[in-house]
Amino acid sequence: MRNSLRFFFSVPLVLLWLSVSVVSALGNSLPAADDVTRGALLYDKWYAALGQPAPEGDMPLWSAQTTNTRSGPDTWRCVECHGWDYKGKDGAYGSGSHYTGFPGVFGTQADVVAVLKGATDPGHDFSAYLDETSMKQVAAFLQSGLIDDSEYIDTVTLKTKGGDPAKGKTLYEANCASCHGLDGAKIIFRTEGINETLGAVANRDPYRFLHRTRFGVAGTQMPIGRDLGWTPKDGVDVLAYVQSLPTGSEAQQPSNVGQDSGASPQVGGPPAGVAGGILTGILAFLGTFGVSAFFLFGLVVLGFLVVWALRSRK
Ligand code: HEC
Ligand code: HEC
Repeated sequence: MRNSLRFFFSVPLVLLWLSVSVVSALGNSLPAADDVTRGALLYDKWYAALGQPAPEGDMPLWSAQTTNTRSGPDTWRCVECHGWDYKGKDGAYGSGSHYTGFPGVFGTQADVVAVLKGATDPGHDFSAYLDETSMKQVAAFLQSGLIDDSEYIDTVTLKTKGGDPAKGKTLYEANCASCHGLDGAKIIFRTEGINETLGAVANRDPYRFLHRTRFGVAGTQMPIGRDLGWTPKDGVDVLAYVQSLPTGSEAQQPSNVGQDSGASPQVGGPPAGVAGGILTGILAFLGTFGVSAFFLFGLVVLGFLVVWALRSRK
């Protein structure tokens, strides 16, 4: 009687433990974001993408210019020197407060990893901060991920050229409105002291909008064009639509998002269908917490069974 009872309790418990451990191990080994996407996040803000604090002070090359008066963490971001359109002084950062006179990286023939190790200029040496894998991911992004939006964006008005807002509306409402709101004002971004709706970002900095719509924001869970299989033009269509949404200058909006893409609000995982969402949630939970919890749980069950076995021997 006692034996069968013990069997009755222990087998399902051990099976449960095993199966959950296997599922969580699978969850941990799900393929990471592809190299180009990783590279794009690193290009945007590598220290955020790597979960590191920003380096102290200004990037060494920063003192080679005086026109861009930012200082500190921003000066270390690839994008601050090379631009959201990747064209440096030959693109959108060819004038205005972001102007540095530094070159673009669009169509670069350079050996990116070597440049990041300081081969061309010791001041451009990131090897104290970026590991080999990260350098290769940035290289993959620069070599095969860059999209030339000059044919789609009017450099003077910053409006799209030939964007299809009707198509953009459909894509936006299906994939983005759940978090950003139908009016793009559900999340307010705080950028350099300015509160911005998504519409404001789209109008003020369409290149940043496109980069982040396609590749995401480090530390933020959101569906991105690259994973949704969007063409460059799809992104432009969404941009055209979002440019027509309220920009927030109509009324003062409270801030609920940290500085730029620093502190992110808590949001759910990508709602790619209810089942997918639930699975993503479970896997994420198991990935971070489950392994250790269930390992502990298993140990406790094991100890319990041993004690039980010893006691029933008497
Ligand atoms: C403080 C400004 C600054 C930052 C930040 C910066 N760069 Fe540069 N970058 C430069 C300057 C100036 C040059 C040209 C001189 C040189 O090669 O060092 C350059 C050159 C390059 C080149 C070679 C371009 C060519 O075709 O010759 C690449 C590629 C590049 N940077 C990529 C990056 C990446 C990737 C990052 C981020 C990890 C980054 N840069 C961060 C200023 C910067
Ligand atoms: C699951 C919720 C969620 C969904 C769905 C979502 N986003 Fe986001 N998005 C966010 C959050 C949160 C941020 C803020 C990141 C930060 O600033 O910390 C953000 C940031 C952005 C930014 C950067 C804005 C800036 O200041 O540079 C853009 C652009 C953007 N989202 C576009 C989109 C588009 C286009 C879609 C649809 C394809 C989309 N998002 C879907 C949650 C979401």
